[in-house]
Amino acid sequence: MPSLDPILDPHALARALSGVHLIDGALVAPVEGRCFDVINPATGAVIAQAAEGTAADVDLAVKAAKRAQTAWARRPARERGKLLAECGRRLLLHVEELGRLVALETGKALRTESRVEASVLADMFTFFGGLASELKGESVPFNPDMLTVTLREPLGVVGAIIPWNVPLLLMAMKIAPALVAGNTVVVKSAEEAPLTVLRVCQILNALLPPGVFNIVSGDGPGAGAPLVSHPDVRKVTFTGSVETGRIVYKTAAEKLIPVTLELGGKSPMIVLADADLERAVDGAVAGMRFTRQGQSCTASSRIYVHADLFDAFFERLRARVDALAMGDPLDERTDIGTVISPEQFARIQDYIAKGRASGATTTECSGLPTDPALAKGLFLRPVIFTDIAPDAPPAREEVFGPVVCLFKWTDFDAVIEAANDSPFGLAATVWTNNLQKALEATRRLEAGFVQVNQNLVVQPNLSYGGVKTSGLGKEATLESMLEHFTHKKTVILNML
Ligand code: NAI
Ligand code: MG
Repeated sequence: MPSLDPILDPHALARALSGVHLIDGALVAPVEGRCFDVINPATGAVIAQAAEGTAADVDLAVKAAKRAQTAWARRPARERGKLLAECGRRLLLHVEELGRLVALETGKALRTESRVEASVLADMFTFFGGLASELKGESVPFNPDMLTVTLREPLGVVGAIIPWNVPLLLMAMKIAPALVAGNTVVVKSAEEAPLTVLRVCQILNALLPPGVFNIVSGDGPGAGAPLVSHPDVRKVTFTGSVETGRIVYKTAAEKLIPVTLELGGKSPMIVLADADLERAVDGAVAGMRFTRQGQSCTASSRIYVHADLFDAFFERLRARVDALAMGDPLDERTDIGTVISPEQFARIQDYIAKGRASGATTTECSGLPTDPALAKGLFLRPVIFTDIAPDAPPAREEVFGPVVCLFKWTDFDAVIEAANDSPFGLAATVWTNNLQKALEATRRLEAGFVQVNQNLVVQPNLSYGGVKTSGLGKEATLESMLEHFTHKKTVILNML
């Protein structure tokens, strides 16, 4: 079992975390004994083995969570809150360790992405820990001779299925509110990134009672599906693709349990003629998450630039992306790391080929690393498409890669219509100093999260989630905790 002191060598930590789930407070081997390789996408080398979960492991984890849930829910809410806040403090001691490990297994650059993610992780626990006292009910003026109140009660065992792109933060957004509300959880990690979340679970199991927070690794059909369909799982919270979201929703419908789904996006960025050009280009680089190879559900992958600024915007964006250094994710000089897996690499390349074939003008930016040690790494040059038809696949579908489409516009109504002409509705940004246009755009854009003149990422206390096929339900706020991880019980005391 790896030591609970920070382990700064990510290779050593990866090996030490090999071959186990965390169930009922202990690191345990998979029931059926099978493991799968965890690959460093920057070199193609195997860095660890992960336990390949099956229905048998899921069943053990859910049963442990169920056994633990009654006592966990009976603790005073503030006690749970204090424990969660302590989890946040503990995780802060591990920021460097977790940042390095997540960089190793996902290929996300340490300085620009992975360390940042590791520090936001703690904040989610601290935030939700502080909300424990808000798990309040109401008194109801029903009958003066009766005391009528509502109580906020937990749902039971929560199944959380998470993806690989921001595994720490996305896991924290699910489990912190679930736990503080008195539920217990079983997480199914993403097959591409099982290690760092397992380490977080190990660190927090030193503070939490056994069975409260369990984690099982494995693939979607083998471990994810049995978690969703398990009869003792009373709520599922999922982040990933629309396709898998539909499967999860169908199973949940059969069981009649609630779900939260955070799915994809094709988020528009609209730059008006009066916008501050430099600021907007900074926003495009940040919003497209070029430093994460564009692997973000909120990526600003459709940028609509007013004709007056278009050429200048394109040139500056190209220059800015060109200046980003691609290389070893663990090297402090690196801005851009790798794509996550050969499958995603091929999928992105296919979108780039389709964009080229559609007749779009294709601009490749930044250089590939020259270090021979990285020759097998999944490095991909960012692509800017211009003159692209709105219905070309990379302009319409979620690429989840460093591919951005630039469109030129002149008519404000038409650009709002174009931005809304998408099956998705996760995020949007507007760049202007015209207050009236800014307000009008924020009102008309179909998205869960709209920002003007900035492009911030998920933060505690800002409601996060989409409309249309981007998902169901919101995360990261007090209201989302109450709505998605508790139910309201009505109690009437008739004393007559
Ligand atoms: P995915 O939706 O297949 O995987 C996400 C999670 O769901 C993983 O933990 C996976 O093991 C699990 N899963 C897969 N099939 C399942 C099933 N039948 N039952 C229960 N759980 C299941 O996404 P994937 O394959 O990693 O990526 C494909 C595309 O999905 C990406 O290119 C991107 O467009 C989108 N995506 C969106 C994310 C977001 O943040 N909204 C995150 C990851 C992917
Ligand atoms: Mg998949």
